[in-house]
Amino acid sequence: MKTILILGVFFMLAACGGSTNNTDQLQAQVDSLQKKLNDTYKPGLGEFMLGIQLHHAKLWFAGTNKNWKLADFEVHEIGESLDDIKKYCTDRPEVKSIGMIDPALSSINTAIQQKDMQLFKNGFIDLTNNCNNCHKTVNHEFNVITIPTSLPVVNQDFKPHY
Ligand code: HEC
Repeated sequence: MKTILILGVFFMLAACGGSTNNTDQLQAQVDSLQKKLNDTYKPGLGEFMLGIQLHHAKLWFAGTNKNWKLADFEVHEIGESLDDIKKYCTDRPEVKSIGMIDPALSSINTAIQQKDMQLFKNGFIDLTNNCNNCHKTVNHEFNVITIPTSLPVVNQDFKPHY
């Protein structure tokens, strides 16, 4: 009887010891995964903005060429980049002002759906003003966005072929 009791206590202690070891191992794995996660490359706000700048310019040439499908694509690319900014740039306080551009994006979207050139041009001016208004709000007034004066790339045809 005594032997069984002693054996029982021995196994209990062994089991407890084992679980502590497991916890230590799991913690070490969590720590190493957390470190890998922290070291993962994430594009910065400026890189997202460079992408948005290109989509903004392409949007202009798509719309003014009445390539409404391309214009629709470009406006959604801007929207996706803005979503990515909200997701990946949470460390930047400026991001809380990003929503100020939403109404302008939605009006230009309406112009594209209605294939209305005048509405598109007005919407584009409004969109561009909103880019600059946000830049002013977050002390980046030196980044001045304009209506593009020449094609942003030389290897793309903006005219519709459909
Ligand atoms: C939060 C409000 C906000 C809005 C809306 C916004 N920007 Fe920006 N933009 C910033 C901030 C902040 C920076 C500086 C990023 C950095 O620190 O690298 C910036 C930087 C830029 C740059 C400079 C990037 C470079 O490296 O040369 C460009 C170009 C730019 N934005 C274009 C645009 C365009 C085009 C729009 C509108 C379609 C727009 N931005 C809308 C906040 C905004």
